[in-house]
Amino acid sequence: MGETAPNKNEAETAADGARSEADAYTRGMEHLVGIVQALSLARTLQSVQAIVRSAARALTGADGATFVLRDGDSSFYADEDAIGPLWKGKRFPLETCISGWVIQHREAVVIEDIFLDDRIPHDAYRATFVKSLVMAPIRREDPLGAIGAYWADRRLPTQAEVKLLQALADSTSIALENVQLYAGLEERVRARTAELEAINAELEAFAYSVSHDLRTPLRVIQGFAQAVAEDADDVLDDEAKGHLRRVTGAAVRMDGLIDALLDLSRVSRAPLARTSVDVTALARELSVELAERDPTREVVFVIEEGLVADADPALLRAALDNLMNNAWKFTSKKAAARIEVGASPVALGAPLELFVRDDGVGFDALRAPQLFAPFHRLCGADFPGTGIGLATVRRIVRRHGGDIRAESAPERGATFSFTLQPRA
Ligand SMILES: Nc1ncnc2c1ncn2[C@@H]1O[C@H](COP(=O)(O)OP(=O)(O)O)[C@@H](O)[C@H]1O
Ligand SMILES: [Mg+2]
Repeated sequence: MGETAPNKNEAETAADGARSEADAYTRGMEHLVGIVQALSLARTLQSVQAIVRSAARALTGADGATFVLRDGDSSFYADEDAIGPLWKGKRFPLETCISGWVIQHREAVVIEDIFLDDRIPHDAYRATFVKSLVMAPIRREDPLGAIGAYWADRRLPTQAEVKLLQALADSTSIALENVQLYAGLEERVRARTAELEAINAELEAFAYSVSHDLRTPLRVIQGFAQAVAEDADDVLDDEAKGHLRRVTGAAVRMDGLIDALLDLSRVSRAPLARTSVDVTALARELSVELAERDPTREVVFVIEEGLVADADPALLRAALDNLMNNAWKFTSKKAAARIEVGASPVALGAPLELFVRDDGVGFDALRAPQLFAPFHRLCGADFPGTGIGLATVRRIVRRHGGDIRAESAPERGATFSFTLQPRA
């Protein structure tokens, strides 16, 4: 068994041939399933080419294979995998080459002896090993190109080889359409992102220069209001002095607003320099600063031990400073207050979430989302402020790939929680 028996008759030999062709076809189809999977994951023309050139050869058992793309009126031999050089990198007019014939006729071609076929440009083949070939169009309805398989011995390629090559070409057409689709989508995303970035940068620069330019006239207002107050102290009545004080007070508030706006601007413009930050030490430092600002207040700080974040130290300090200042401010009407800084329990592998909690006046939770927009304040004149602090905090958090949320109820305190996404 196994050896070809010497006394087989013609019918038996033909049956053996058919069986081995069927086996080869089945093996080829199995192989093709894996190739189709690889093709479905290919995102670039190069990767499709690389898969196809070796698959074409392996599937058909040929001595060489080419991957040809239609480029207007010519065939471009984009890639090859063969025992000797073929036409990689060359271009031929569609009328003068067999891939052109396949592309124009939208059908596969089988050639047993290339020198007997007048569709073949014999000169281009004389320097190669090729004697026989099969060529199948990629996307039969409107060919994008063709795939060729070549043999060094003169032979008639089998039906199975033709079918396998055509199946590969059909899968390739889907892969190529995917590549075009992805390239188009990526290009659109890139263009959109660039556009948004440009608009953002322009707005940012505008906000920065406006804030900056407002400083000069403001200094003039402050300076002259002060000069009038000093020089005309004895001629002004109390009402006029009161007006002057309001001018000065408004100028000081505006100065504070400009500072806050410039800070907000800087938060977006400065490059992010991440490192490991001792959040516990940072929060302690800030709590001491707050306590020193008003030693008469009775505030207990509860700061969790061992908090470490991967963040930009200056920006994280600005964020915590804003949140802890708010906690300090919005508990100021209480005889005794408590301010907590800690990390929320999160699932394993989830990003770090830090929180700042107080037991102050709180706010209506439904209005929480508005607080993160610049100038949004809920507290009126009861508590001084600019309404830019939380906007600054959110920008900082977002630049770290995280987000911030607030939980609160009137007179029930507030908790601000924010995540920090570790570096990729
Ligand atoms: N801890 C807090 N408790 C109660 N309300 C708060 C707290 N933090 C922020 N808010 C509300 O959010 C608003 C915006 O905060 P923020 O942007 O820091 O501005 P500002 O502190 O200048 O008022 C505040 O005016 C206040 O209404
Ligand atoms: Mg604030």
